[in-house]
Amino acid sequence: MTTSFQNKTVIVAGGFSGIGLSTVIHLLDLCEAIHVIDVSDFPPSNFAQDNVYFYPSVDVSLRESVSQTFKSILARSPRIHGLVNCAGISPSIATIPEPDATFDRVMAVNCRGTWTLGTEFLRHIQSIHKDGLPTYSTSMVIIGSSASMRGYRSLAAYTCSKHAVLGLARAWALEYAQMGLRVNLVAPGSTMTPMFQAQLANSGLRNESTLQAVAQIPMARWAEPSEIASMIGFLLSDAASYITGQAIPVNGGEF
Ligand SMILES: NC(=O)c1ccc[n+]([C@@H]2O[C@H](COP(=O)([O-])OP(=O)(O)OC[C@H]3O[C@@H](n4cnc5c(N)ncnc54)[C@H](O)[C@@H]3O)[C@@H](O)[C@H]2O)c1
Repeated sequence: MTTSFQNKTVIVAGGFSGIGLSTVIHLLDLCEAIHVIDVSDFPPSNFAQDNVYFYPSVDVSLRESVSQTFKSILARSPRIHGLVNCAGISPSIATIPEPDATFDRVMAVNCRGTWTLGTEFLRHIQSIHKDGLPTYSTSMVIIGSSASMRGYRSLAAYTCSKHAVLGLARAWALEYAQMGLRVNLVAPGSTMTPMFQAQLANSGLRNESTLQAVAQIPMARWAEPSEIASMIGFLLSDAASYITGQAIPVNGGEF
């Protein structure tokens, strides 16, 4: 696994927190360069390594912002080998039906953000394979959710956005397989990140009902972000060289 990352450059969007940050930490000692994009103004501190570049205040739903960031990244690293999109939001206060504004924002970040980042990366791949022959392999990992495969109460907009990005993964996997790109979706179950902690705090899922929810999971616990990051790292690596177009659940056996 280690050698398969040598001299490789990976972009992680939504990498200032949670699963994305854990992915950056997982890749730190493996990659030549990691470019980390996030809408937050405040990059994580305590990174001594000089192979990590932070791009704060970038909203993945906005084409202009994402295009400019890709230009800056390509100026530093002309060859990009991997893209991970962990940027995402989930409404933490449940109302049924959800307001239009919730639907619009969740779709903008989770779905359009995946589209915007993904298509910048796809254009890069087309530009390096002008003759149609792959010179090196590339991998895109989209972070979906258990909600890419199932419906969840009070989360209709989120469920819709996560089903939609599974469609992108499947279509792009077909379109770009012969350009050396693999596209897969990781579908985490509930994972102990700031996003999930906010949901727990706001949804009334406390004490007894929290215990009941955990009891539905065969492994009887939530995931740690590092357990999702290690699957993302595997899918980025050459160890996954024959895997594309797949949705991989990492959910403690929930389904
Ligand atoms: N935590 C879970 O239980 C869980 C389960 C399944 C799927 N997921 C998915 O995993 C991904 C990461 O979630 P997390 O739990 O680590 O959450 P998190 O809130 O800890 O991290 C999400 C990151 O995305 C960034 N972000 C949000 N909106 C953005 C935007 N418009 N542009 C750029 N960056 C933006 C945030 O600033 C944050 O750094 C999300 O796509 C989420 O839907 C999480």
